[in-house]
This record gives sequence, structure tokens and C-alpha cells, in this order.
Amino acid sequence: MKRIVCLPGDGIGPEVMAVAQRALHVLAPELELEDHPFGAAAIRATGDPLPAETLEACRAADAVLKAPIGDPEFDAADIRPEQGMLRLRAELDVYANLRPASRGPVDLLIVRELVGGIYFGARGVRDDGTVFDTCEYHPSQVERIARRAFELARSRRGRLTSVDKANVLDTSRLWRRVVHEVAGDYPDVEVTDMLVDNTAMQLASAPEQFDVIVTENMFGDILSDLAAAMTGGLGLAPSASLGDGGPGIFEPVHGSAPDIAGRGIANPAAMLRSVALMLDHALNRPEEAAALESAVETALRDAPTPDLGGSATTVQFADVIIGALPRSRP
Ligand code: IPM
Ligand code: MG
Repeated sequence: MKRIVCLPGDGIGPEVMAVAQRALHVLAPELELEDHPFGAAAIRATGDPLPAETLEACRAADAVLKAPIGDPEFDAADIRPEQGMLRLRAELDVYANLRPASRGPVDLLIVRELVGGIYFGARGVRDDGTVFDTCEYHPSQVERIARRAFELARSRRGRLTSVDKANVLDTSRLWRRVVHEVAGDYPDVEVTDMLVDNTAMQLASAPEQFDVIVTENMFGDILSDLAAAMTGGLGLAPSASLGDGGPGIFEPVHGSAPDIAGRGIANPAAMLRSVALMLDHALNRPEEAAALESAVETALRDAPTPDLGGSATTVQFADVIIGALPRSRP
């Protein structure tokens, strides 16, 4: 029996997680779903955004389904919900963050390095008050994400854009060198280097040129929000964070939207699409994944939420989803 650890999180998190769980009960009723505290809710309950019990459950799970976390109450606090997120990614070593974005002729996949770079480099304060965060990469960290991206490009349209800032940064020059070394093993994939500032412009002006984009942690964070905005908004963008063999983390790209929390109008599409990625990548259920994707299309058309210009509530959106799903066969 497969076990899914669910992290309902903060803000609209529990509202969109409830929809995800309704869909899973229909699509794959034999899955064991268990909720664990995480994020601001966990800080309030235990003082730690990633309690030891939650981490152990995640390690032992077949997959982790995560709703957004974050709460303005902790914006300036020493212990913040986001620290739990970063620790969970590092502990599970989910170095490859897949963020697909598609609409009309645009169909791209951002592969973001997730456990290195400036997010995890040395940081501190000097005696004169200067604060610093450093971007660090070991060649082996670049090699494994490059390999993953080449594999993914090979399974799609065979084009890989490697994004860096090699005209300025030493870590980017390392990145470029290692990507081209790995490219030797993938002669069937066409690889192009692109500077990150130019990539932002190209994404905004000609996004249909991209197939797979591979980049370091912070560039990927920024470019994936841009790609999401170009293809329908953050309310639609899912992600899968994968390591080598251990449980992956499946979560929407968007945040906890505290401004609309508790009002019953959150758009659960990105959460449901993250469930589809989980069904596909972690549970080997591509048919159920496709069925859920198509139910999301139906609900986006028939019951759009206010962020998309519609007036459906989260529950009305969910009802359309449930109505559109095939019942599982015993
Ligand atoms: C994301 C988020 C996170 C990140 C934050 C919440 C730590 O913006 O998943 O894109 O920067 O990785
Ligand atoms: Mg982000």
C-alpha cells in the first residue's frame, strides 16, 4: 500500500489540500493519506516549521504532497515557515525541481536546481555590519541536475536551454563547463547557452522557442514565476521536486495567499496539477494523471475562480473536478 504524506500548510493551503484529497479518494482510493504539521501552523504548535515527526514521516513516505506555507505573522521572525521548506528539500535531497508551463503554442519545462546555490551557501554578518549570502556550486551538483535535464529534454522535443550569468559569475562559468561536458553523452539533444537577463526577455517576448530550460536555484525561482505568469498565472502552475530514488515533493508554485485565506475562493488548479505530477512521477499512474489533468481543464472552463475572472468557489470548482473524474475500477 502506497503512503502519501500530506502537508496542508498555511493560508489557502488547507483549502486546496482538501480538494486534492477529495480527488485522490476518487482516483486512487487505496492510497493511504496522512496529514502532518508543517510551516507556520507547525511553528505555532511546536516552535519548529519542520517538526522531527513530520520529517520522519516524509522520509518514510512514497511521496510528499505539499500545500503552500507562509504567514505574514512570521515575516520578520527568527524562525520562519520557509526555513522548514528549505530544510525539507535539503533533507530529502530533491535537487531537481520540475516546473512545466504551457498554453497555446507555449510548452516548456523549467528544471530548477533546488538544493544548492545562494539559497544554501555560506551566509553571515561581518563586523562592519555587512550582511552576505553566497552562491556556491560543486561540480557534482551541476552534473546531476544537468543529467536530469538532458534526460527530460530527450523525452520531449530534444532542445535544452542552459541559463546562467557566465559573463559575470564564476559559478555560472562552472555551470556552463559542466553542462557541456554532460552534453557529450546526449548527442541527440541540442543545447544552447542563454544569459539569465536575456532569458527573461525571451520568455516575455517569444516563449514558444523553449523546450527544456535548466538553471540554478535562484534564477529558476525567478524565471518560473515569469513562465507561470506567461501561461495563465500562478494559480495554474504545479511542480515536482525529485531526487534519486527517495520520495519526491509535489506542490504548487504559488504561495499561501493570506489575503484570500478562509474565504473559500482559492483556485485549487495548481494543487491538483501537482497531484497529477505525483500520480505520474511517484506512483506510476499515468492514466489517472491524464484524467485529472483533463478534469482540471474542464473545471477551468466551466467553473473558473475569481483569480481567473470567474465567480466559482473552491468547492464549486472541486465539484466539477469530481464529476469529471472516472471512478476507479476495483
Ligand atoms: C518557490 C518559493 C520558495 C523558493 C520560497 C517559499 C522559499 O518561492 O518554491 O518558488 O524560493 O524556493
Ligand atoms: Mg518562488
